[in-house]
Amino acid sequence: MPETLRYAGIVGVGAYAPQRVLTNEDLERMVETSNEWIVERTGIRERRIAAPEQASSDLALAAAREALAQAGVAPEDLDLVIVATNSPDMFFPATACLVQDALGARRAGAFDVSAGCTGFIYALSIGSQFIMTGAAEKVLVAGADSLSKMVNWEDRGTCILFGDAAGAVVLEPVPEGYGVLSFSLRADGSGGPLLTLPAGGSRLPASHETVDRRLHTIHMQGREIFKFAVRVMGEVALEVLRKAGVGPDRVGCLIPHQANLRIIEAAAKRLGLGMDRVFVNLDRYGNTSAASIPVALKEALDGGYIRPGDYVVMVAFGTGLTWGGALVRWLPEARGRAAGVAPAGGQNELPGQDSPP
Ligand code: UT7
Repeated sequence: MPETLRYAGIVGVGAYAPQRVLTNEDLERMVETSNEWIVERTGIRERRIAAPEQASSDLALAAAREALAQAGVAPEDLDLVIVATNSPDMFFPATACLVQDALGARRAGAFDVSAGCTGFIYALSIGSQFIMTGAAEKVLVAGADSLSKMVNWEDRGTCILFGDAAGAVVLEPVPEGYGVLSFSLRADGSGGPLLTLPAGGSRLPASHETVDRRLHTIHMQGREIFKFAVRVMGEVALEVLRKAGVGPDRVGCLIPHQANLRIIEAAAKRLGLGMDRVFVNLDRYGNTSAASIPVALKEALDGGYIRPGDYVVMVAFGTGLTWGGALVRWLPEARGRAAGVAPAGGQNELPGQDSPP
């Protein structure tokens, strides 16, 4: 073990979203809702839906390949593959093992993280610490979800919200003062019943009855989750800034979990940040759960919203209940495209929108 801790930073970012677009107008034909209601209450206009043959590991794999290419890291040099997901391909093996195998990351350990939509923050914190302690040199962290497969398409309270996507980052040691400067992981399991997928586990094993009662789909008390999110998002952002001794006025870009524009605006207000420093793409992707932060991070980089040396705050909340944040100082100079800045006014579109490899 090294005598002192190292700094862990993001040296490559990738993202993938399936090709099929489901608009609010499409939803108007499926449930009793309207484009106006969805836009006003959530900010979402459309979302991507995975093809029947696409599972979360396929989405993660596409994002991971791009992140590795940007970082200039070969899969066989990875020490660890961590996938945050709430919609694993199956109960076991872990989705991370499927990604590890498909990548050819022969030397890497692999495991999943289940922490709701906060999963990417949890996984980033875990991966960073392997780098910081010297236990690993190169770590891949992905957030991947295809919740469209678990939504009750007759429940207008949930089916309008979610979309499918994946994002991934590569972590390596970086110069002192850069990379992950602080993080905060929080949970309150007493709020678990507010957002559940009740059946299929050891509590309610799959049966005809659980299928008939739609217990294999998402059940949510949206209003309660909303109130919780408004309370914790700004709070945890301030907490990670306080831990690192960085004032909110020095934040270059806030990357919030993309669930609801009103929740994001409340968090920005709490930090005293103008919306020009908050990255929002939920209008085009909806809530992609554990993928939302790395996908937004990728688009913020490509669009020139993050500049070398910027302080970037990422915050999320989700089922569990969980919430958390991380403060990252972006690298001072380009290392691949991930650490650099694409020209401002970029198209802000995800690459590889067709079928996964
Ligand atoms: O990553 C974590 C995942 N979960 C979340 O992020 C959810 C957080 N919560 C939210 O984003 C919001 O609570 C929702 C968008 C889910 C709902 O918005 P709201 O402003 O909290 O509405 P509400 O649930 O209080 O419902 C208001 C009304 C209700 O009708 P009544 O009882 O006032 O007649 C609902 O039945 O809106 C109705 N409603 C809808 N109307 C049209 C609920 N869903 C819809 C819909 N279209 N899709």
